[in-house]
Amino acid sequence: MSSYEPRRVRHPLPPARWPSRDEAAAARWFSPIRIGKILTARERTWVPAMVPWRATDDGLVTPEVLDWYARFAEGQPGVLVVEATGIRDVASGPLLRIGDDRFIPGLRRLVDTVRERSQGLTRLFIQVIDFVAVRRRPEPEKFFGRYLAVTDSLRAQIALWLDDRRWRGASESEVREFLLAADRVTIETVLNDRELEALDCGYRERVWDTHLDHIRELPRVLPPLFAEAARRARDAGFDGVELHYAHAYTMASFLSRLNTRTDGYGGVREHRVRLPLEALAAVRERVGDDYVVGIRYLGDDVVEGGSDLDDAVWFGLRFAETGVDYLSVSKGGRFEDAKQPKIGEAVYPYTGRSGYECMPTVISDARGPFGRNVPLAAAIRRALRDGGWPTPVVTSGGITTFDQAETILRNGEADCVAAARQTLADPDWFRKIRLGHGAQVRRCEFTNYCEGLDQRHKQVTCKLWDRLVDPADPTLRLASDGRRRLSAPGWSPPDEGANANRT
Ligand SMILES: Cc1cc2nc3c(=O)[nH]c(=O)nc-3n(C[C@H](O)[C@H](O)[C@H](O)COP(=O)(O)O)c2cc1C
Ligand code: SF4
Repeated sequence: MSSYEPRRVRHPLPPARWPSRDEAAAARWFSPIRIGKILTARERTWVPAMVPWRATDDGLVTPEVLDWYARFAEGQPGVLVVEATGIRDVASGPLLRIGDDRFIPGLRRLVDTVRERSQGLTRLFIQVIDFVAVRRRPEPEKFFGRYLAVTDSLRAQIALWLDDRRWRGASESEVREFLLAADRVTIETVLNDRELEALDCGYRERVWDTHLDHIRELPRVLPPLFAEAARRARDAGFDGVELHYAHAYTMASFLSRLNTRTDGYGGVREHRVRLPLEALAAVRERVGDDYVVGIRYLGDDVVEGGSDLDDAVWFGLRFAETGVDYLSVSKGGRFEDAKQPKIGEAVYPYTGRSGYECMPTVISDARGPFGRNVPLAAAIRRALRDGGWPTPVVTSGGITTFDQAETILRNGEADCVAAARQTLADPDWFRKIRLGHGAQVRRCEFTNYCEGLDQRHKQVTCKLWDRLVDPADPTLRLASDGRRRLSAPGWSPPDEGANANRT
């Protein structure tokens, strides 16, 4: 746990100069790019994965999911990546799933919706994810009364602390009663680090918990799960699949220097990258050479003892050798330094320092949030090019103006420039810029209201949308709490008249 607080400087949004229609047409950001063997994206504009918490509890596509992606498709980005979608057929709350063929029809509807709303101009990928168990922070009464395993080593710790050997033979209920009544110092002394973490933050598995059968088996289980998920993505009509090897989840944890597995899948980086490469190879084998397979991973874990840019550059080269079609570079978003959750809530990886680096806000250190992660992508791209690999590299993090994106591309720091929150704030912004109406872009304020909703698994919306609410508008749909617009206000170019500035 850390109580990381960036030095509090409030940064203004970078001034925006918007291009004319002609300038936009000639811009690099709006120029095509080849991704993989046969696919061309019409532009280098990119919307990275964002979970909106709109699926059913069974992981199925809902009308709200379709609306969410339809709205992004109307802005006609070059590439749109569908949210992290679970590869297993297990309950995961309102997160999309792709762990069985029964999910294909809904996902196919999603593909059709994006094709139609983008007029066929947007390439659609889907991000596929695996994660290990994370439980909510328990009530102490429940933790000591039920969840905590009463082991001989716990009895021995109590005996040592109380200097009373009889505790070695204490019954389970005696131990539980003792802990329920114990003071904090006693609890901190007799519980081991993991037990204390389970009490204070909720139980959380690690990929190096090889004493657990299902964790030990991950290297055997995951490649076919990823491969089948990718096959379903292809069958549903997606243009490509993005393997989620970033943030707090299984594959990022295999890649992390924190991974201490001793079975050939942890320790030195050759071993840490082994499972991610085996999954990539299995996916490639299943979907064929022509299908786009990308990877999103971390340029830096930003946690103590975690992987850094040096590892990420090395991993990038291994991914390229193994046939990845693009690399999307993110940063941080790990559990290790996350803030303590409230009782009843789960630990959230976008808090703490690593979380800040993943979704930086305007309350920042001297460097500020804008384009903060670009150097990571730039270093990875440079190493790829030096090694003779043309693999496109995608950067994201605090991109909010046309000039920022153009400069990144002109400097050769990335091949595609992604914007998550700016596109959430204004899904039409690419279209507005393209048509010479950049001055109408609704600019993200980078204060993370949306992220707060994500944290509580509430339907994600942008606070700026609510500044344009006409309760009499028959098309207006509200979030399930009845208080927020569920999708961004519509937009039509002023010259198209009637619908302009529809709310
Ligand atoms: C609401 C929300 C949900 C997100 N969900 C995902 C996700 O499913 N997968 C992922 O790789 N990143 C996810 N991200 C991170 C974004 O893709 C992006 O990396 C991050 O927001 C920084 O980019 P930005 O400054 O353009 O917003 C999410 C971000 C937000 C705001
Ligand atoms: S809620 Fe705030 S940070 Fe999120 S997209 Fe809207 S303006 Fe940006």
